[in-house]
Amino acid sequence: MSPQVLKVDQVNVFYGTSQALFNLSFDVHKGETLALLGRNGAGKSTTMKSVAGVIAAKSGHITLHNQAITGRPAHLIARAGIGYVPEDRQIFPDLTVEENLDIAIKRGANGEDDWSIERVYEMLPLLKPLRERLGGQLSGGEQQMLTVGRSLMGNPDVLLLDEPSEGLAPIMVQKIGDLIQSLREMGKTIVLAEQNLHFCLGLADRAVVIDKGTDVFVGTITELNDNADIKQRYLSV
Ligand SMILES: Nc1ncnc2c1ncn2[C@@H]1O[C@H](COP(=O)(O)OP(=O)(O)OP(=O)(O)O)[C@@H](O)[C@H]1O
Ligand SMILES: [Mg+2]
Repeated sequence: MSPQVLKVDQVNVFYGTSQALFNLSFDVHKGETLALLGRNGAGKSTTMKSVAGVIAAKSGHITLHNQAITGRPAHLIARAGIGYVPEDRQIFPDLTVEENLDIAIKRGANGEDDWSIERVYEMLPLLKPLRERLGGQLSGGEQQMLTVGRSLMGNPDVLLLDEPSEGLAPIMVQKIGDLIQSLREMGKTIVLAEQNLHFCLGLADRAVVIDKGTDVFVGTITELNDNADIKQRYLSV
């Protein structure tokens, strides 16, 4: 298997006194797309937030290229190579599409500058005619494309996408799927949080199923799809 890029090891996360993640562990290999699957409230977003440094793990270890990132502030984790697209699509509503992209320019952890605004427009062609439009005037699907584009402008080593298809019309879900497929063909390492196993089929290589804040299954996406028991117990399928 290709080298390990990200490792989440025995992570425990609390919101106040309420524990959300329980000794959660998984790893992500270079160039793979890993699906994080689980029902509402399973802990997918909390997992992504703890990797991105938006919330701190109380215990456990998170490493990126074997370097500890646990407990580091979000901006340093971003600089170290984690690109995070949260579920609530944090774009700047009063900036144009192009300005939203422009302020997100950042070299990668090793000085990579693979992504320019033009390159993002090539990858996300529907954004180009909207370049002068304010972020706040975009549709949900267009905003989702813009948040992914912004993240790419930061040259991430690992892209965390939190339910990118959620709430979008079928045509936009298809476009998001095509985009993930293209990124995957470019060799990007992607972690995709989803409730929808069907969306991940053909996109993800492996899957981790989370239930009540802990990992209950790890295997290939095909193994998961063939496992009626796990699907019935832990997924809404
Ligand atoms: N800010 C918060 N304060 C307190 N509890 C929270 C907070 N955010 C999430 N939780 C709780 O943590 C648990 C995991 O939530 P999380 O958002 O990670 O789930 P999820 O798998 O992303 O769900 P969904 O598919 O609905 O997005 C849930 O029990 C949730 O109620
Ligand atoms: Mg979530």
